[in-house]
Parts: sequence; C-alpha cells; structure tokens
Amino acid sequence: MAGRRPHAVLLPLPGQGHINPMLQVAKLLHSRGFYVTFVHTRSSHRSILRSSGGPDALAGLEDFGYEVIPDGVAVPPTSRSSSKKKQQVSKGCVAYAASCSAPLREILARRGGGGGGPPGVTCVVYNWLMSFALDVAEELGIPALAFCTMSACGFLGSYFLEELIHKGYAPLKDEKYLTNGYLDTTIDWIPGMRGIRLRDLSSFIRTTDADDFFLETEATCTKKCDRAQGLILNTFDRLEAEVTEAIGAIFPKVYTLGPLPALLQANHAATDSPSVSTRFNYWEQERGCTEWLDAQSPGSVIYVSFGSLTTLTAEVLDEFAWGLADSGRPFLWVVRPDMVAGGGGNARPSVEDFVRRTCGGRGFVAGWCMQEEVLAHPSVGGFLTHGGWNSTLESVCAGVPVICWPGFAEQHTNCRYACEEWGVGVELGREVRREDVSRLVKELMGGEGGERLRKNAAKWKEEAQSAADVGGSSFDNLERLAKDLSSGKF
Ligand code: UDX
Repeated sequence: MAGRRPHAVLLPLPGQGHINPMLQVAKLLHSRGFYVTFVHTRSSHRSILRSSGGPDALAGLEDFGYEVIPDGVAVPPTSRSSSKKKQQVSKGCVAYAASCSAPLREILARRGGGGGGPPGVTCVVYNWLMSFALDVAEELGIPALAFCTMSACGFLGSYFLEELIHKGYAPLKDEKYLTNGYLDTTIDWIPGMRGIRLRDLSSFIRTTDADDFFLETEATCTKKCDRAQGLILNTFDRLEAEVTEAIGAIFPKVYTLGPLPALLQANHAATDSPSVSTRFNYWEQERGCTEWLDAQSPGSVIYVSFGSLTTLTAEVLDEFAWGLADSGRPFLWVVRPDMVAGGGGNARPSVEDFVRRTCGGRGFVAGWCMQEEVLAHPSVGGFLTHGGWNSTLESVCAGVPVICWPGFAEQHTNCRYACEEWGVGVELGREVRREDVSRLVKELMGGEGGERLRKNAAKWKEEAQSAADVGGSSFDNLERLAKDLSSGKF
C-alpha cells in the first residue's frame, strides 16, 4: 500500500448520539492525510440539512466527501415518536443490512481509485450496530474497524450479553424478576468489572421475551466486533483503566480516542488542520441560552437534559418540573418537542408556562441547545442527565458533576461508573418523585456531598485534557490508528 493515499469510508448509525462522534473520528483521520468519505442514510442527511440550513454543514473540507444511502427503516431521526426512533436505532443490524449492503458495496467499489477521482478505499470505520458493513468490507477484502460509540464499560458489559443469555441470566424468567431483588445479583465473572450487578448492565436484559429484538441486536453486534480488524472507543484509558485493560486482552487492536471533542482541539493545535464544525444537529439550536446563562452567578445553574431519545410520561415530566421549582436553584432545561411519550404534542409550551408562573426568570426552557457550550459555561455547576455516553463524557470534559437518571441501553452502566468509580455523580431512582429531584439538586448545588463530587469532577477534567494533549494516551492512540490504517497492517 506504500505510496497510496489512504481513503477511509465512515459509516455512522443515524442518531444524534452516534453521528457526531463518527464525524469527529472522520475529521481526525482527515487531519492525518486521509481522504474521507462520510456515508449518511437518507433521512438523517435530510434532517441535518433542514436544521443546519444548507449543504455547508456537510462539506467545507477539501478531500472530504459524503455519500447518501437509503434508509433502513422509514422513520426519520426527528420523528415525533421516540419509541419508533429507538426501534430505528436498534433495528440497524437487520433493516440496514437489507437495504444498505448493496449501496455500500457500490460506494466502496466506485470510490476505487483511478482517473482524477478519489484514491481507492483502504479502510472502513463503521458504527458497531451497522455491522452489515463488516460483511461488505470482508467480501471486498477491505480492512474494517468497529467504532463503538458507548462507554468502554458499556461495551464490555454488552460483549458478555451472549454469555449472560447462555448462562440463563437473561431474558428474565418472569416480570417479578424486575422487582424481587434479582437485578441486584452480582456478576463476578466479567473481567475488569468488579462488583457489577445485573441492574448495572444493559437495560436490554430487562425483558422476558426470548426473542427480544434489542437484546439480540445488542448481543450479536457487540460480539461480531471480534471479526473487525480493530475497535475504536470514545473514552480515555485512565477513566476506564480496568475495563480498557480487559478489552485489550480480548481485542488485539483497541484505539481509545476519547474524549473526542478534546482530542479534536488538541489535534487541531498540533497539526494546524482547518477548524471546522464537528457537530451535526437534528434539531435547531436555541441561541437564547447563552444570554440567560451570562446573567446567572458562577456555578449556580443546574443543566437538565435527557439526550435525543429519552421519553417520559406527562406525570414524570410534572415531577421533574415541581422538583426543579422546589429546589430553589436556577435551571436550564431542554424539553425536546418529542419528549413526552404517547404523542400528546410538544410539551415545551406548557413546561415554559409552568416555569414562568412558578419560577419566573429562575428557569429557562429550551427545545435544543449547544450542550458542550452550555456545560462549559461558568454559570453551570451541575447536570441532571439520563447518562447517555456523550453527555457523560461531555460533563467529564467540563468538570461538571452529575445527577444520573438512567433508563435505556448502557446508561445504567455509565451511571454506576459515574457514581461508584469516578465519584462524580449521584443516582436518581427510576420512579421520579419531586422531593427526590429537589433534594438531590439542592445537595449537588450547595451541599457537602456536591462539593466532594465537584472536586472529583475537576480532577477528571484535568485527566481528560491530559489524555487528549500531545503525548497523552488518546493522542498517541490517534497516531497509532492513523499509522495502522495507512499501512493496512492488521
Ligand atoms: C444514546 C445514548 O448515548 C446511549 O446511552 C445509547 O447507547 C444510545 O444512544 P442519546 O440518548 O442521544 O444517545 O444521548 P447522548 O449520548 O448523551 O447524546 C446526546 C448528544 O446530543 C450529546 O452529544 C449532546 O451534546 C447533544 N445534545 C443534547 C445537544 O447538542 N443539545 C441538547 O439540547 C441535548
């Protein structure tokens, strides 16, 4: 391969929590001399164009092209129905394989060098749930690396789902097992995950259905990474030391590149690569947040957001609203248009009305915000989060402690690590009660416990920066990844 310019094709899973980390990996490879082709599914591409206002959001760099392939299923990422969206995200394995394999094969072959076009494709980086890409790449003899966008602890837990199923831990025997203490069972045979309980593992084990689609998809796609030439993770070694060590003992080539936003900045400074936006958004970002935050005191605001997929009932929304109101603390709350389960329309106007009447200017409600900027704002001192991996890592980068309200996928694992291993969080129980919300917010923002978490969060912020800086573990791993991909030696 010597002398040939490397060409990476990157295939994200369409979903807010997946597309940006993949874009960030794409930009990093581009800065290291790769020709990059970024592959969008049609409805994801359309949603980005709509919210970002034009094709510039998708281009702007020389030798950075994009392609569009059909959707796996007919639900756009901005669909009003979040349960449909979740299905769309998880049905990747099957539905995308059926409709996207042939178009991907065509892209890999067409972008095959010769003439004045792009150089031949030399590697594929795919979201681990889009695992059909591995089959296509293997068929064409192109090295493929899996990018798992969740935490390393989440990945390792899910890697052992097959064994959990085999040993009879999942699916659950009957519904009673959800509440009879069974989920407190400690699993002592997953390497690198001391003291882990069933309740800390993927939410997909909480089913009684032997053919549960989510459980099967998660277990199969994670295990299929065994066949990939390497594994990319958005974490840093110090944060998940025992877990990344255990993963390293299973996979010969692991590249921990996190936190990706910090690595991008460090890499930009080190390589003088062009500074371009590394975020796609499915929703328009609201501008008023920064002005409102500017008017608040340092460290006083609790930021509340449950990511792009979480839905809640009107009752739970009410408990959160009263809890925040009763806490007496300033808050910035993201209420997505599709956040309330069961249709019911956009909940934002009624929440805004409640906040205006009950809290006056102490609360600010947004439909979608620039989360990284919000977390980095000096007025923000805490984050009430669902514990999605991007949100968790973004709070680590900003040194902001968290209240975790986990619900879906590996969010329980992230919560366990944030609270027990890193000492930066406390958990809010699944049954939301206003008095718990208010008590935890008060403790995080003003209590001694909150102070302790804040100190730990400040420490992890420094660790994250060191990992991303020149000579740090993630920076070194980027260099190793670029070298391995360029040489094609796996
Ligand atoms: C999820 C979870 O990451 C994960 O636990 C699971 O595996 C499936 O996907 P999501 O629920 O969207 O994704 O959460 P998260 O990973 O936190 O990603 C949300 C992203 O949206 C973050 O990067 C955050 O910065 C961004 N965001 C959120 C905004 O930019 N603005 C907002 O107002 C809210």
